Amino acid sequence: LVSVKKKEGEKRMPISENAKAVLERRYLAKDEAGNPTETVDGLFRRVANAIAEGDRHFDPKADVVATARAFYDMMTNLDFLPNSPTLMNAGRPLGQLSACFVLPVADSMEDIFDAIKNAALIHKSGGGTGFSFSRLRPKGSTVNSTGGVASGPISFMKVFNSATEAVKQGGTRRGANMGILRVDHPDIMEFITCKNDTAEITNFNISVGITETFMEAVSANGMYDLVDPATGRVTGQLNAREVFDAIVQSAWQTGEPGIIFLDRLNRDNAVPGQGEIESTNPCGEQPLLPYESCNLGSINLVNHITRTVAGWVLDRAKLERTIRTAVHFLDNVIEVNQYPLPEIDRMTRSTRKIGLGVMGFADMLLYMGVPYNSEEGVALAAEIMDTINTIGHQESQRLAEERGAFPLFDQSIYRDGPPIRNATVTTIAPTGTLSIIAGVSSGVEPVFAYAYIRNVMDNTHLIETNQILKDKLVEAGIYSEELMRKIVEQGSLAHVEGIPEEIKRVFVCAHDVSPIWHVRMQAAFQQYTDNAVSKTVNFPNSATKAEVAEVYRLAYTLGCKGTTIYRDGSRNEQVLNIGKVN
Ligand code: CDP
Repeated sequence: LVSVKKKEGEKRMPISENAKAVLERRYLAKDEAGNPTETVDGLFRRVANAIAEGDRHFDPKADVVATARAFYDMMTNLDFLPNSPTLMNAGRPLGQLSACFVLPVADSMEDIFDAIKNAALIHKSGGGTGFSFSRLRPKGSTVNSTGGVASGPISFMKVFNSATEAVKQGGTRRGANMGILRVDHPDIMEFITCKNDTAEITNFNISVGITETFMEAVSANGMYDLVDPATGRVTGQLNAREVFDAIVQSAWQTGEPGIIFLDRLNRDNAVPGQGEIESTNPCGEQPLLPYESCNLGSINLVNHITRTVAGWVLDRAKLERTIRTAVHFLDNVIEVNQYPLPEIDRMTRSTRKIGLGVMGFADMLLYMGVPYNSEEGVALAAEIMDTINTIGHQESQRLAEERGAFPLFDQSIYRDGPPIRNATVTTIAPTGTLSIIAGVSSGVEPVFAYAYIRNVMDNTHLIETNQILKDKLVEAGIYSEELMRKIVEQGSLAHVEGIPEEIKRVFVCAHDVSPIWHVRMQAAFQQYTDNAVSKTVNFPNSATKAEVAEVYRLAYTLGCKGTTIYRDGSRNEQVLNIGKVN
């Protein structure tokens, strides 16, 4: 085995204490007593070495040491990080490296409980699972073998939920699930409201699978058909606008269900001959075929800007290098991955989907002095993602020359063009943990809060400040504890006295960004992303249902693949509170 050695005079890893604590708690290899058996640096060596080994599958004489070095540098400089399961499991006995899975749920007891068992195996290894329940016969239909009545998709979802509750994921995180039901399933109304009691089905995110037929019926204020998936028969009709309003009502009330646009997911289905895409992974950014898995990775944009006399600008040369090394890395992950099921192994290797995305986008804008909610911000988003998608595809094509195209290439949407190694290349993940490790804003979301209070001990309250803002205020000669306290209390800089307008204009937080800008930003990234974009559209508590409905329509018009909204204060147990000292 190769091993990466530290170079003389190498700069110390720019990893914060906070990030180290997260890595120590959840990611480092531990002995039976729970003591870490590796250091944070050791973790990155382990991952770099294990993933570089993939090169040997194509060339027994490959310079694996050089590849491992490049991977190690890219991760320890925090230029790029692979999704959590890769960090946790690469080079260790479990070896399961993917975050995203979709499992089929067919309409029989055997198939339903197989799916539950398979989900448990995936959760144990740190992955998340998505399911479409659309094939299950509706509640109350007859069951041939027993003459009894079927319980319906929602009731089975609760069984999946309980099973998930019992399996702790990767040691400390609970398994995450996505549950999807088509809007034309007869049980759709029960599905839309099944999480209105927020204590129910807590291990699932749920989304309604929207069809274009349905959206047309909404605009025409018409009826649409409900179809029993078991028989293919039309069982009734609903008024589309009433159903749409019910979705809006529940989402306004609790943030769920989200919506996904099924026809759009399938228009981008790279291998339509393999069947329809019916579901995504838990956070919605990765549409997959049944039994497919995908590994994600994110480029830290903050590390891809450079200071010039004119201010901070994109470092295109470095970005290109990172994109190419990242695609190489993610393709190797597919090689060395140990899949939890033979079907997943087969499907994943036949399409070889990877999901390269970004984090730290909002922080990057702060350095560049560009407001998130501006034409310039949206244009930058499109430009950066266009670059990542274009160079990412080029690198995947280059890999195909050495390693061959993905096995289903001949029946794919790419078959008339140059061979490509991966059926999809780009995805924008939430980067919940990765962004903490890298110490940057998550995914493509705006900064949630610039200052908040942390309760340390004995009711000691510590103000935590966004470092980029702090530096800016210090530079302007106006930084003070008092000023930060005001920002905490108001939850935003917008109405704090004594801060220059130019700073207020750039340092906008999630709640300063209007829902329309949230959607426009999502759409800009989506335009250049093969898979989907993880994004929450934040609303203030005072938002109306009409405003939520408008965002859904806009997301549809602008080409988004789905939408998740959240109205501040609409859930009691919400994690991030603005303006509250807790
Ligand atoms: O930052 P990290 O790699 O931990 O994950 P993320 O970007 O926040 O989430 C990416 C994907 O990981 C999600 O869409 C899920 O498929 C999966 N995930 C999960 O299964 N369980 C979690 N608690 C978090 C994420």
